Amino acid sequence: MLIAIPKEIKPGETRVAATPDIVKKYKFMGIDIQVQNGAGDASGFSDDDYRNAGAEIKKTAEDTYKGAEVILKIWAPEASEDHFIKAGTAIFANFQALTNRGRIETFAHLGLTCFALELMPRISRAQSMDILSSQSNLAGYKAVIEAVNHLPSAVPMMMTAAGTIAPAKALILGAGVAGLQAIATAKRLGAVVFASDVRPQVKEQIESLGGKFVEVKSDENFETQSGYAKETSADYKHKQQEAVAAQLTKTNFAVTTALIPGLPAPRLITKAMLSGMPAGSVVVDMASSTGGNVEGSEDGKITIVNGVTVIGNSNLAAQLPASASPLFAKNIFNFLETMYDKENQKLNYNFEDELIKGTCLCYDGKIIHPSFIGA
Ligand code: NAI
Repeated sequence: MLIAIPKEIKPGETRVAATPDIVKKYKFMGIDIQVQNGAGDASGFSDDDYRNAGAEIKKTAEDTYKGAEVILKIWAPEASEDHFIKAGTAIFANFQALTNRGRIETFAHLGLTCFALELMPRISRAQSMDILSSQSNLAGYKAVIEAVNHLPSAVPMMMTAAGTIAPAKALILGAGVAGLQAIATAKRLGAVVFASDVRPQVKEQIESLGGKFVEVKSDENFETQSGYAKETSADYKHKQQEAVAAQLTKTNFAVTTALIPGLPAPRLITKAMLSGMPAGSVVVDMASSTGGNVEGSEDGKITIVNGVTVIGNSNLAAQLPASASPLFAKNIFNFLETMYDKENQKLNYNFEDELIKGTCLCYDGKIIHPSFIGA
């Protein structure tokens, strides 16, 4: 079996889907690897590192894809790459499938077998294959570092001979994987941290990290069976905006992480709410690529909105490629290993397995994922 590791072409993407250590593991399983020249550079892995691990280095994307039966990527192939990929190839990547139906139809039409790693079921067995968790954790950390870097004031309390500096106050909205890491990071830097989520049971997790829970009183339940949030009611939105607006008036930096799978991100902070924040405040909107939690935020840009520095960035893990690539690569390896048939040197797809059922978008020319069937 031959696996290809192309260089990512999405703007701003620095990660790579296999590291030299992981290449060694594939080689040990009897799998051959082709890596595109420079694919690991930003993550700190040179072509020689890959060669020493047993990979062959290819000059161009076309050469890298040639002959491969499996392609490992951070993001799904873009239209410009389609003609390099032969029918029957298996692709493992983040397809952002729920908002990209058109591309999934193209992949099915091309006869590709696509595994959307972002749809990996959140079950114990799949924890080591969960790219959303491994990457969101790093992104939550980086969001706080970014925010603090743009603050005109120090974060921890400092008692000096010249006077006392009060600690900065942080607000984290959405306390999933990214939010909990943001709370922990802000706390480690010495901020007084407040946090909120539609799922009331995260109160305990927030408090266990030293955060204070900002409660929005409601009897409604906005959690799906799979543990994700759903869209809130108009009544809840109203109460939440009041609570968040009041908290923002005493917040020096905020990080917003709220997502609803397959839907635009919920709007949690309006421009009017931003204008109530203290001078020099910073907000990092990690949901900027899906519409944004913050009114006026722009994905991949830093803007000043009503005096507040708003950083829109949904791909912060790409700013930590040396940490993020090894975790992403291990996530894919752990998944691929479950379906590798060593004797026959090929991948076996057991469509009864919930990992495959949960992630396989298309196979044998058809879209087969339950999210699309009947949609
Ligand atoms: P996510 O990235 O989909 O959303 C981030 C957070 O935003 C979530 O906590 C969500 O409740 C919150 N949110 C959504 N809409 C909101 C709104 N209108 N206002 C305020 N907050 C809002 O979530 P993530 O981090 O992927 O986690 C989703 C679930 O999966 C959680 O229950 C988490 O504990 C669970 N999980 C389970 C794992 C497992 O292996 N069992 C691994 C990782 C996460």
